[in-house]
Amino acid sequence: MAYENIQVEKKDGVGIVTLHRPQALNALCAALVDEVGQAMRTFDADPEVGCIILTGSEKAFAAGADIKEMKDKSYQDVADEDFITDDWEVITTIRKPVIAAVSGYALGGGCEFAMMCDFIIAADTAKFGQPEIKLGTIPGAGGTQRLTRAVGKSLAMYLCLTGDMIDAETALRAGLVAKVVPADSLQEEAMKAAKTIAGLSQPVVRTCKESVNRAFETTLAEGMRFERRLFHSTFALDDRTEGMSAFAEKRKPNWKNR
Ligand code: HXC
Repeated sequence: MAYENIQVEKKDGVGIVTLHRPQALNALCAALVDEVGQAMRTFDADPEVGCIILTGSEKAFAAGADIKEMKDKSYQDVADEDFITDDWEVITTIRKPVIAAVSGYALGGGCEFAMMCDFIIAADTAKFGQPEIKLGTIPGAGGTQRLTRAVGKSLAMYLCLTGDMIDAETALRAGLVAKVVPADSLQEEAMKAAKTIAGLSQPVVRTCKESVNRAFETTLAEGMRFERRLFHSTFALDDRTEGMSAFAEKRKPNWKNR
């Protein structure tokens, strides 16, 4: 499949989607968002892929939704087309783990895109922000919601109300990112994590992701019940028997993905 705004690659069981609109710092135009959705769905359906990385360039993961593309839209336009809806949310429907590898700017929709992934590995050059307020609008793809859940009210309010950016270390302290690495080893570190995940039992990985995600949708009591039932369900898998047997026999597990 030929893409114009992204590059895709498959390596060692990992699908890599690289945002590639260098002339616009990977601003998320509709065509790019559509292509990301297609590529993600393709990797999700590919049995050779066990984990997906979403990344950008050294200078920018993505500098936000494409301002030039939306600047002339009226209220009627955005309301009629329900602008920023399902196509943007495709990442959150992917069943395989998706890692955001962020270098440089992750602003507005770029920060929101990264937050839709399962976790973020940031280069020490990464900058996160929700600058929509400076454009006379507000975040529209999770900047007031996922960000608040990730970093808490105070920092989320600060970012959304001032439009200021935070650096990678601040994002790490706030819990927005899982890990900060030197910029020149970002892709290597993301690959390392992705290969680890791709090398595990895929049904167990899928179950684990589903259980963590439920924490954002439900009460603690319901979430605990859900987790326990999924935990029980892993005992129906050959891979659960294999994993525990391999530990007891001091050998590497041989996953069958069933
Ligand atoms: C369209 C953009 C863009 C964007 C940068 N460019 N960000 N085009 N939409 N979001 C373009 C610039 O116009 C410029 O094109 C080229 O990319 C390089 O950008 P510069 O500004 O020259 O680079 P620099 O001086 O290094 O500044 C980098 C920057 C700045 C700080 C990231 O570009 C910036 O502030 N960008 C906008 C960030 C932003 O407001 N994001 C939120 C968007 S709203 P030319 O043709 O001039 O060379 C949003 C809403 C989401 O995301 C709602 C739901 C999804």
